[in-house]
Amino acid sequence: MPETFLITGANRGIGLSLTQVLLSQGDKVFAACREPQKAGELQALQKKHPGALELVPLSVDSDSSVAAAFKSVSEKTQHLDLVYNNAGIQSQPYNARLEQVELPKMREAFEVNTLGPLRVARAFLPLLRKAANPRIVNMTSGLASLSGKSEGAFYPYGVSKAGLNMLTRTMAFDLRDEKVVVVCLDPGWVKTDMGGPNAPLRPEESALAIAKTIKGLTMKRTSLFLYNDGKELKW
Ligand SMILES: NC(=O)c1ccc[n+]([C@@H]2O[C@H](COP(=O)([O-])OP(=O)(O)OC[C@H]3O[C@@H](n4cnc5c(N)ncnc54)[C@H](OP(=O)(O)O)[C@@H]3O)[C@@H](O)[C@H]2O)c1
Repeated sequence: MPETFLITGANRGIGLSLTQVLLSQGDKVFAACREPQKAGELQALQKKHPGALELVPLSVDSDSSVAAAFKSVSEKTQHLDLVYNNAGIQSQPYNARLEQVELPKMREAFEVNTLGPLRVARAFLPLLRKAANPRIVNMTSGLASLSGKSEGAFYPYGVSKAGLNMLTRTMAFDLRDEKVVVVCLDPGWVKTDMGGPNAPLRPEESALAIAKTIKGLTMKRTSLFLYNDGKELKW
């Protein structure tokens, strides 16, 4: 059955590919991005899938932007089946060590990668609560795994995404009685602006696996850390 999704950071990279995959599978997507007027690929998709794709201005680091996005989406749908917190940033230089890492970059990473999903998830809860099987998926990374950590560097990214992992678990328990599924998901290492040209996965490959996994999510899996194919990962 077709479902209704909200995806943040949908204008490029994995968010764009996931939007394409879901549209091709007959789903409806609210594609959120900072500047829809510049999102040429989303605009082209909208022409190809009339009525199934809405572009929504949304900066995940701004309370007022998230509130405005909620208002505009609420005017167009009665419910959301799934909110996908995909938007994220990787601060550069990623390999800055303890004495080089800049605190403003740590703060910025927290604002986008950790507080962004919190802001979006709670703003859109009223629409999720009207779905039969509501789900929140937070895009994390293998670099956020505590048990998998075996090198220095990646301070802003790794620390903010590890915070996102704890946020995921905390939200999952807070929303358990309401039967809202909350998981975090590692897309794999993907060839995007962030992942770089050496990544082994194409965005479409990761997005196809993700679409299958997120459509099959139920309360049995809430609070887990998953790979793109649904395999459970270690924290
Ligand atoms: N690629 C990988 O190998 C990999 C691996 C693990 C996890 N991830 C995670 O997967 C997600 C997508 O990554 P990607 O590789 O597709 O990255 P990407 O190509 O760099 O795209 C990042 C997306 O996030 C958006 N974004 C950044 N800051 C934002 C903000 N303040 N408000 C709203 N949107 C914002 C960007 O929008 P603009 O175009 O406006 O900047 C863009 O749409 C991220 O959360 C990333 O951490 C990626």
